[in-house]
This record gives sequence, C-alpha cells and structure tokens, in this order.
Amino acid sequence: MKNFSKSVLFSSFLTIFLFASSSYAQNCANYNFANSIRSYTTCHTLPVLNSFLHWSYHQSNHTVDIAYRHTGVTTSNWIAWALNLGTGQMLGAQCLVALSNSSGQIQAYTSPISSTDYGTTLQEGPLSFAVPRMEAEFTNNEMIIYATIQLPSGRTSFTHVWQYGDVSGTTPRAHVTSGDNLRSFGSIDFASGTSVDTGSTSGGSRDRNRNIHGVLNVVSWGILMPLGAIIARYLKVFKGANPAWFYLHVTCQASAYIVGVAGWGTGLKLGSDSVGVQHNVHRNIGITLFVFGTLQIFALLLRPKPEHKYRFYWNIYHYLTGYSVIILSIINIFEGFSILDPEERWRRAYIGVLIFFGACVAFLEPYTWYVVLKRKGQSTTTPASDKYRPGHVHAANGSNGRANGYDA
Ligand SMILES: *[C@@H]1O[C@H](CO)[C@@H](O)[C@H](O)[C@H]1NC(C)=O
Ligand SMILES: *[C@@H]1O[C@H](CO)[C@@H](O)[C@H](O)[C@H]1NC(C)=O
Repeated sequence: MKNFSKSVLFSSFLTIFLFASSSYAQNCANYNFANSIRSYTTCHTLPVLNSFLHWSYHQSNHTVDIAYRHTGVTTSNWIAWALNLGTGQMLGAQCLVALSNSSGQIQAYTSPISSTDYGTTLQEGPLSFAVPRMEAEFTNNEMIIYATIQLPSGRTSFTHVWQYGDVSGTTPRAHVTSGDNLRSFGSIDFASGTSVDTGSTSGGSRDRNRNIHGVLNVVSWGILMPLGAIIARYLKVFKGANPAWFYLHVTCQASAYIVGVAGWGTGLKLGSDSVGVQHNVHRNIGITLFVFGTLQIFALLLRPKPEHKYRFYWNIYHYLTGYSVIILSIINIFEGFSILDPEERWRRAYIGVLIFFGACVAFLEPYTWYVVLKRKGQSTTTPASDKYRPGHVHAANGSNGRANGYDA
C-alpha cells in the first residue's frame, strides 16, 4: 500500500513535470502561431521580460524573418525589439515597435534611436537597414511583432535589445529603469542560431556592484544609524551606563558613517556608470544624507560644553539632523529596493529589522519616561537632577523641558 501511494505520487509528479516542461517548450520551439503559415527554424526564450524570439535566416538573400513575442502585456503597453549594429544597447538601437494606435488596432512601425537620445518617445522613422515586411498582433495578453529584415551585408551577429512600457494616449512612455528592464539585451547570431544573454549573465559584475552598494548602505544608514540613536536615547537613562552609552553611540555612528560613505561612493560610481538612467529621488536623498551625516561628525567635534549657553541650540540641531538622517535613510533604502529589485526576502528582512527597532522604541520609550519621572519626583530637593552626568553628556529624555534632552 505504501509503495502504491508512493508510485502514484511519483507518477503524478512526473505528469506535472512533463506537462510543465511541455508547456514551457510550447512557449518556444513548439509554439503554434495562429496563422500556420508562420513557422520558424529557431526559437530562443529570452532570459527576461516574458519574451521569445523566433527566426528563420535565409542565406540566399541575407534576410531574416522574425517573430518577437512578449507575453503578459495589455493593449496599454508598447513592446519593442531592436538590433543594435554598434556597441551600445538602447542608444543607436534600430527598433521594431508595436502598440495599439488611435484607431484601436495593433500597429507595428520602425523607430531608430539616435546615439544620444535617452529621452526617445520612439517616433516613427526609417532604420539603417530595410524592413520589407512588418506587422503586429495582440491575442491573449500576448503581443507579437512579425518582420522581415534585410540584414546589413557581411554580418549575421548583432546585439539585440527588447523592452516594453506603458503607452500614454498613443505615445510610448519611458520604460522602467530598473531590474529586468535593464537586463533585456544580449547578442544573437541569426546564421548559427546562437544567442548569448549578455544582459542577464555577464551583467553580473554590475549586479555585484549594485548588491555591494545595497548591503553597505542598508547596514550603515539603515541599521547602525538607528541603532546608535536608540542607544543614545534609551541607555543614558541608566545611571550605570554613564558614560558608556556616549562612547557606544559615538562608535556606532562613526562606524555607520564610515561604512555609509563607502556605500555612498559605490552609489556615485553606479550613477556615473549608468549614463542616461537617472534615479533622481534616490540620488538626491543620498546626497542629502551624506551632507547631514557629515554635519553630525562636525557636530561631534564642535559641540559646546554642557553648561555653555549655546548648548541648548546645539542639542536641537543635533537631534533634528539625527532624526532627519534616520527618516531619510529608511525612505532611501526603500527607494533603493525598488530600483535594485532584489528578491522579496531582502525587503522583508529589512522590514523585520525596522519592526524590531519599532518594538524596542515602543517598549523603552514609556519605560524611560517612567524612570525619569520617578527620579524627578525623588530629587525635588536636588534641583540639578542630572548632576551625576559627566560634562559632555546630554540630559536624559524626560517629560518636561528641563530634562527633555535639550537641556544638558
Ligand atoms: C529570401 O529568400 C527566401 C528563400 O530563400 C524567400 O522565402 C524570402 O521570401 C526571400 N525574402 C525576401 C525579402 O526576398
Ligand atoms: C492603426 O493600425 C492599423 C494596422 O496597422 C492601420 O491599418 C491603421 O491605419 C492605423 N491607424 C492609424 C490612425 O494610424
């Protein structure tokens, strides 16, 4: 009986597996085009953006018939597939574009992108090679461009690029500039039938740099900075933790700053490497963070003595800058997540860290107030309730102006 159920299990697993792999194969070599006249000798499942490229190369007249299929789109998307005869990817690409035109029909047209035009809206225009036949269709959330291309003489191997985005009216809008939308290129040889997915594989070193950038910044700005603030705010209320909290706080923020500046540098490098792709919000918040972080280092070096008349203002300044850094860091980390588009578990892990910090604050904040209030009550006879603190230390957090930390 046990064996029987095992073999049932195994065979159903096998069926599912075969079914899944055959439906996968359906998507490429065995895919049946609605019009049975269309058939192609070669098919390649492109590595990203739900795309497939079918083609037949005719040596006699050096033409290639292609069908570029993009699944999972709607009629408010545009799709494009392009050859790039140069060394670039998007810049200089000779595009075949399909979208739903003003009469509601799916239309295919050609659009050359100049070598400088990152802001292209894919205007119609002639390509650098002839495209004797071209049409497009849309069925079952799948858009297909069919075309015959007269290949430039003497070569069959090119960089190809594919993309999609939203249409506003009948004008293609800029595509997403992160994740798979930046990996959708590779090289293709129509004669030999080979293709290399450069964008998703050898783009590895760039991906690695982006990951390093992400890790450095999440650890520094996203974890160490708030941790250091929590240490300062909640540890100093314990008499025994004085002045240890101060050194812990400084150590934590200083290492966060050093790692953070390294992370910031990798961000500048990534920015300068990806010409034409701008993540303005992320970049501007990043620059602000660097400025604020640096100001905090100066604040440490230039802080007045606790009894100095300007110390009150210094405290306000230090707190405001510090809290701004924490809030901006968290915002920018989520900005970064949406650009880098890592596996969901990384975002979840960071949300977990934030929930942990939130729980610490929720528990320690009332407790701190309780301790400070109680101490106030006991020390009404000794007005300088925080006399026990060493000179450089801020006051504990507390319930009123006297002990709220602006008054060390
Ligand atoms: C190129 O040649 C093939 C046969 O080798 C033919 O089927 C195709 O129509 C030709 N294409 C053009 C654009 O002439
Ligand atoms: C829309 O596309 C169809 C199919 O290509 C074409 O026949 C028609 O002229 C286009 N309409 C407009 C307004 O461009």
